[in-house]
Amino acid sequence: MSAKLVAVTDSVFPNLDPAGAALEKIGAEIRLAKESTPDAILEVAREADAVLATFAQVTPLIIQQLTRCRVIARMGIGVDNIDISAATKAGIVVTRVPDYCLDEVSDHTMALLLALVRKIPSSNARTQSGHWEMRAVVPIHRLRGTVLGLVAFGQIPQLVTPKAQAFGIRVVTHDPYVSKQVAERAGVERMEFDELLKISDYISIHTPLLPATHHLFNADVFRRMKPTAYLINTARGPIVDEAALADALDQGHLAGAALDVMEHEPPAGSRLFGRDNVIVTPHTSFYSEESLVDVQTKAAEEVVRVLSGQAPRNPVNPEALSLRSGMIQDNL
Ligand SMILES: NC(=O)c1ccc[n+]([C@@H]2O[C@H](COP(=O)([O-])OP(=O)(O)OC[C@H]3O[C@@H](n4cnc5c(N)ncnc54)[C@H](O)[C@@H]3O)[C@@H](O)[C@H]2O)c1
Repeated sequence: MSAKLVAVTDSVFPNLDPAGAALEKIGAEIRLAKESTPDAILEVAREADAVLATFAQVTPLIIQQLTRCRVIARMGIGVDNIDISAATKAGIVVTRVPDYCLDEVSDHTMALLLALVRKIPSSNARTQSGHWEMRAVVPIHRLRGTVLGLVAFGQIPQLVTPKAQAFGIRVVTHDPYVSKQVAERAGVERMEFDELLKISDYISIHTPLLPATHHLFNADVFRRMKPTAYLINTARGPIVDEAALADALDQGHLAGAALDVMEHEPPAGSRLFGRDNVIVTPHTSFYSEESLVDVQTKAAEEVVRVLSGQAPRNPVNPEALSLRSGMIQDNL
């Protein structure tokens, strides 16, 4: 039996040692694409038994040319960069790691909220350039008694909740799929999207990127927010219409924004840059030294499971598994 080959489409990691250690169990060899273009990915992935992907686009064109691949494991939570329907058609199961950086993203959300409200980045920049003055940060409002609106109430916002509540912030949410009991247990009020827009002092986005959430935050929505409100996005860039956000900030429809994710990453400049009331971090909410080990290990363990005939823990398209066994039967 030939050694198993695992292709890595792209990596933001200092090294792939944690994935390598997990894959040692099946003696698999790892090959990293030189760059995340379709050609470079196919060079390592065409004959691979499995694919590990981070941010690279895994398109139908790539998927159709994978000759041996049985699993595409995303080293992350969201799977919007992988064409799930093309993978399903090819009998390839796609997995994700839903539980690796929940502390990090919820901490980062709070860090962005606090930095925005307390105006830390702009006052730090002014102070260090010789301006020791309070006037430039006026006004700042007390956190206690304000309202944080969480758009979606999945795992990450459920961890944001007690952190915000510890500052005396009232937390509300809009998530059509979350039960009353889950929200009640967390001390969070569920409400319609419109109501949340109307009453929130800070809105933090935590939905997946789906056709229904693409540009969910647009010009019309910004007009319905409080002009003193702040927007925080640690979910996915295209959920926010950035041109409309820049217009809304210019026109005073909201007070500021903090984004860890952008519509195009890396951005080639942005109308949002260079503003005192905008904070941007380079999609690093997920990051800590510890979370990197978790995500690589958990994604590689999914590969080990599938390649050794076991069911993966977090398949996105479990139907691909039965489709594949059907394909194998047909070829017998
Ligand atoms: N910036 C980063 O580094 C980073 C890291 C991890 C996750 N993320 C992103 O954070 C987001 C949230 O992750 P999570 O683990 O909390 O997700 P999750 O899967 O636990 O929860 C998603 C929630 O979204 C809700 N939802 C779906 N459509 C909705 C809609 N139209 N309106 C309101 N709610 C809706 C679902 O009911 C569910 O409760 C995802 O977009 C993920 O990709 C970003």
